[in-house]
Amino acid sequence: MSFIKLSSGKFVLLSTVQLDAQAKREIHDLTQGGELIEAIIGTNPFHTLAFEQFYTLYPNAAYYGTPRHLRKFKEIPWAGCVTDPSVLSRWTPDLALELTQGGEFDDPQPESTNHFAGVVAIHVPSKTMIVDDCFRVSRNPGFIERGIFGRRDMEVSFHWSLYNDALYKTPGAVQTFYDWVIHLTKAYDFDNMSTAHGGILLGGAKTELLLGLEKAKDALKKMAVANGGDLVC
Ligand SMILES: [Fe+2]
Repeated sequence: MSFIKLSSGKFVLLSTVQLDAQAKREIHDLTQGGELIEAIIGTNPFHTLAFEQFYTLYPNAAYYGTPRHLRKFKEIPWAGCVTDPSVLSRWTPDLALELTQGGEFDDPQPESTNHFAGVVAIHVPSKTMIVDDCFRVSRNPGFIERGIFGRRDMEVSFHWSLYNDALYKTPGAVQTFYDWVIHLTKAYDFDNMSTAHGGILLGGAKTELLLGLEKAKDALKKMAVANGGDLVC
C-alpha cells in the first residue's frame, strides 16, 4: 500500500495491507492516530485482503473502492466508486487517478488470473506513478525471465494477463489500451514507478514504460488483428 501526502497535510492511502504492531504504530505516528487519513482507495479489484481490518482500525476515513470492493464488503460504508469521474479527479492537482483502458474493469473474468485492471495513480509533486498489477518493474529477473522473456533489471513490462484475458476481444480494444498508455506518457510528468509486485523504479520510468510498450507492440498487433482490428502506432 502507498501513503500519499497531499499539499493540505492530509493523506490518501492507496490499497491496504495487513498491519502488524509496528506498522500500526508507524501509521499512528504518521497520521496523528488516523486523524490525517482523508481517504483510502481500493485500487485493484483483487487486492482486498486487508480492507476489513483497516476499516475496523480507521472507521472515520472515507473509503473508495472498485465495483468489486463495493460488492464484496457491504459492511464498509463506501464513500464512492473509482469508476465515478468525480472521484478520480477529487485530489488533483496533487494526485491524478486513471483507470486501465481496453478491458473489463467492473467484473474481470476469470477472477483467478485476470488481474490487469486497476487504478493507476500519479503523485504529481514527486513525479511518481503507483500501480498494482497492470505494469510491472522487473527486479533482478531470474533465469526464466531473462532467458525466455529477455527481461533486464528494472525493465517495465505488463501483467501477463494482457496477452490473454485482460482486454476485450473486440477489434478496437488493443488500440484503446495502446492509446491509453501513450496518453499516460503525454498527460503526466512522471519519472518514478512503484509497483505492487515488482520493483520500485527511481528515475527513467516514462522511458521504460515506452520501451516496454514498444517491446509488446508486435504481440499486441497480432492480438488486434486476430480480433478483427489493427494496431496503429
Ligand atoms: Fe496483484
